[in-house]
Amino acid sequence: MSTYQKNKLSVNNIYKSFGDISVIDDVSLELKENEFVSLLGPSGSGKSTIFNIIAGLIKPDKGKVYIEDMDFTGRSGRVSYMYQKDLLLPWKKIIDNAALPLVIKGTKKKEAREMVKGYFKIFGLEGFEYKYPFQLSGGMRQRAALMRTYMFSKDIILLDEPFGGLDAITKRRMQYWLLDVLSNLNASIIFITHDIDEAIFLSDRVYILSDRPARVKTEIKIDLPRPRKNQVITTPRFNEIKKDIINIL
Ligand SMILES: Nc1ncnc2c1ncn2[C@@H]1O[C@H](COP(=O)(O)OP(=O)(O)O)[C@@H](O)[C@H]1O
Ligand SMILES: [Mg+2]
Repeated sequence: MSTYQKNKLSVNNIYKSFGDISVIDDVSLELKENEFVSLLGPSGSGKSTIFNIIAGLIKPDKGKVYIEDMDFTGRSGRVSYMYQKDLLLPWKKIIDNAALPLVIKGTKKKEAREMVKGYFKIFGLEGFEYKYPFQLSGGMRQRAALMRTYMFSKDIILLDEPFGGLDAITKRRMQYWLLDVLSNLNASIIFITHDIDEAIFLSDRVYILSDRPARVKTEIKIDLPRPRKNQVITTPRFNEIKKDIINIL
């Protein structure tokens, strides 16, 4: 997450209205290779809509989405996308939940299982391959959902408030865990949150969004060194950044 290179993704001047309600008003973003970027903004500001546009599920009224310099505006199937409240299928074993994106893309079930097996250790789920979702704790289910998301497309991953439903302690553990996992993978991440501490702890950069319609108010570079330990959240630098963000929000 520190060796920046080319742009993996760029969102150029997108606009979107639903009926006569403007939801996105001239938003531009970029994501570099191996970068972790957060979109921080209040509920209802248009964050998930931005993701739907990046994922190609809805078309912007104006503006473009480029992935590795190719125009992907309105085209789906390129990036991994974990929806807000993304759930595992309760009737499928964890291994088959994880393999689902590959099966959807046409890989045979047996082969897909083989392809995902090696990731259980990285995602902290070794030994749980043949369990069902109800047999896992909340944090483990979230890890499994993240693993499934990763399987779809390993380089660009959109995560929409993935830890929103977890208790504060589990949430903190999951954030720490996520950074650890990512240090072993080669992925560029955009992460939606309305939690200031979470955005600072995880990110290389944070885009601060306005109330609806979403506009980028400012972009903040998080210069806290990596790897980040949990204690980073009590350092003076962390609190300076937090103060800056609170003043902008
Ligand atoms: N398909 C849609 N049709 C009409 N309104 C929508 C649609 N999707 C989102 N909205 C509206 O757009 C606004 C932004 O929604 P959303 O992007 O989900 O915000 P956030 O993720 O920041 O909470 C909300 O007021 C929501 O009601
Ligand atoms: Mg949302």
